[in-house]
Amino acid sequence: MKETLQKIREAALSAIQDPSADPEQIRIQYLGKKGELTSVLRGMGSLSPEERPIVGQMANEVRAAIEAALTERASTEKKRLLEEKLKSEKIDVTLPSAAPRIGHLHPLTQVQRTIEDIFIGMGFSIAEGPEVEYDYYNFQALNIPENHPARDTQDTFYITDNILLRSQTSPVQVRTMEKQKPPIRVISPGRVYRSDAVDATHSPLFHQIEGLVVDKGITMSDWKGMMETFAREFFGSDTKLRFRPHHFPFTEPSAEIDVSCFVCGGKGCRVCKNEGWIEILGAGMVHPFVLSNCGIDPEVYSGFAFGMGIERIAMKQYGIDDMRHLYENDVRFLEQF
Ligand code: DAH
Repeated sequence: MKETLQKIREAALSAIQDPSADPEQIRIQYLGKKGELTSVLRGMGSLSPEERPIVGQMANEVRAAIEAALTERASTEKKRLLEEKLKSEKIDVTLPSAAPRIGHLHPLTQVQRTIEDIFIGMGFSIAEGPEVEYDYYNFQALNIPENHPARDTQDTFYITDNILLRSQTSPVQVRTMEKQKPPIRVISPGRVYRSDAVDATHSPLFHQIEGLVVDKGITMSDWKGMMETFAREFFGSDTKLRFRPHHFPFTEPSAEIDVSCFVCGGKGCRVCKNEGWIEILGAGMVHPFVLSNCGIDPEVYSGFAFGMGIERIAMKQYGIDDMRHLYENDVRFLEQF
């Protein structure tokens, strides 16, 4: 019987070492109710009383050894599975990740912010005014009385007889001067409206930036110097300026200002339509009537003002030939900026 036990022990232990053998089958085969070890124990009744405890102890040892080997196998199996899982799920954290699609600012916003930054760098602050405006601020206070021909050039959306959608950002000049005593140095970006039909160069809604400087002793050379500084910051340090005499009711004298073409440097190309110059803004010395309309004494103070269209500048700068692209939000277009 002892020999049988010894054989069972060896057979079971070597079976457990065999990785292809199923441990549960082994357990049933040796330790199960009808298992080999169990049947040996059943046969113990035929042993003599002296042999019984010896064989019993040996049988217990064999059972313990088989159980221990099975437990060990289970735990190595568990470890192996874990290692396999870890290996298959390994992540290489040094691999570059898929880049998320990042949005960015609209080209009009980019141009507006760049212009704002340049003027903020020269000590300007930002002023705001309403888009639904009184006729008084949009026209009258700016020296454009009723029936003045300048009203025709700005086809205005009227809401009532004296309330309209502002056709320019210039009314913010008046609102600023009413609220604030000189020295004044503000820019005012925003939406403006004109009842124009949509085409490649017109839109009923577009954007302007207005500028206003008022103080004692402001002269045309301050005006000119500031315009030059801005244009060189924005278009490049080689940029030349050209002041073309013009008329605006709210400035005297007035000019339209051109910059030398930033693409061809003035030789003539597609962007400047072979002229070498690109018109960027209207400007002038604030008309004395406008100052006095706002309660500022034109004998004591003087100033200059300017206004530019953001679309116009963005289109020139990026070579956009149709204004509608700026509003249609086609991602294939917007992605390029
Ligand atoms: N408001 C003018 C326009 O919409 C632009 C302009 C011209 C603004 C001269 C000014 C200025 O402040 O001085 O055409």
